Amino acid sequence: MRLDKVTALVTGANSGIGREVSSHFRREGARLLLTGRKEQFDGAQPDDLYVPGDLNDEAFVESLARQAAESFGTVDVVVLNHGLQVSGPLTEMAYEDAKNVIHSNLLSAFLVMKHFAPLMPAAGGSFVLVSSRLGMVGKPDEVLYSAAKGGLIMLAKGAAIEWAERNIRVNVVAPGLTATPIIEASFQRREDPEAYRRQREGQIPLQRLATPKEVADAILFMASSESSYITGAVLPVDGGYTAF
Ligand SMILES: NC(=O)c1ccc[n+]([C@@H]2O[C@H](COP(=O)([O-])OP(=O)(O)OC[C@H]3O[C@@H](n4cnc5c(N)ncnc54)[C@H](OP(=O)(O)O)[C@@H]3O)[C@@H](O)[C@H]2O)c1
Repeated sequence: MRLDKVTALVTGANSGIGREVSSHFRREGARLLLTGRKEQFDGAQPDDLYVPGDLNDEAFVESLARQAAESFGTVDVVVLNHGLQVSGPLTEMAYEDAKNVIHSNLLSAFLVMKHFAPLMPAAGGSFVLVSSRLGMVGKPDEVLYSAAKGGLIMLAKGAAIEWAERNIRVNVVAPGLTATPIIEASFQRREDPEAYRRQREGQIPLQRLATPKEVADAILFMASSESSYITGAVLPVDGGYTAF
């Protein structure tokens, strides 16, 4: 098992990619601290610790770190998977929405890194930040989301250098469009879901969406000792979208 005796925090664990990462990590032997905003997490297993809260709130992040310290002592791996997308033309984006995107994707990640790096063992640890293909390329109507996800990449690179002497690795996984339940539901709301799907798939060199498992596999690789000499790196899992 690749995460035997490893303790891991997974954020945004309630749905989509985060849920898949949680079950992947569980199968690989990790002890899990899971967090999301919903009060209940119906996918949690008896050995998991689920703590709900808003990662934009530093007091919550501090209390999450305290609970991690009390329950696990140290935390080896942190997967920063939470995030949200607010789309729309730049000139029509409300300042509150813009702040929400930057906070929910970028500043919340900073808060978790700030309060969890001190919990990593003396031997080191691993942060995996979930960015997006849109952290590397621009797209109309996604400007603030892109800015936040691009910011995550630089957050990872800087922290990777700052914490290298403690052997804390910081890497990024940048998914492309992934077939999570929310994305599938958004396709179904289109007038012609199949035509819309074909159009979106046609923009991707591999001509299909990622599965949550394919993204979780990349996150597992970056979290585990299989990537022990990799830090400050970005791994696109996007079917070639950013290869252009
Ligand atoms: N699916 C894709 O096509 C795709 C592509 C590229 C990148 N990504 C990135 O991959 C990650 C996971 O995507 P997903 O599709 O699985 O998303 P998702 O189903 O929307 O899950 C995101 C999770 O983040 C949580 N979250 C958001 N803001 C939070 C906050 N301030 N505090 C605590 N939790 C918060 C949400 O909680 P609530 O349920 O309470 O809102 C939700 O559980 C995201 O960072 C996303 O940007 C996804």
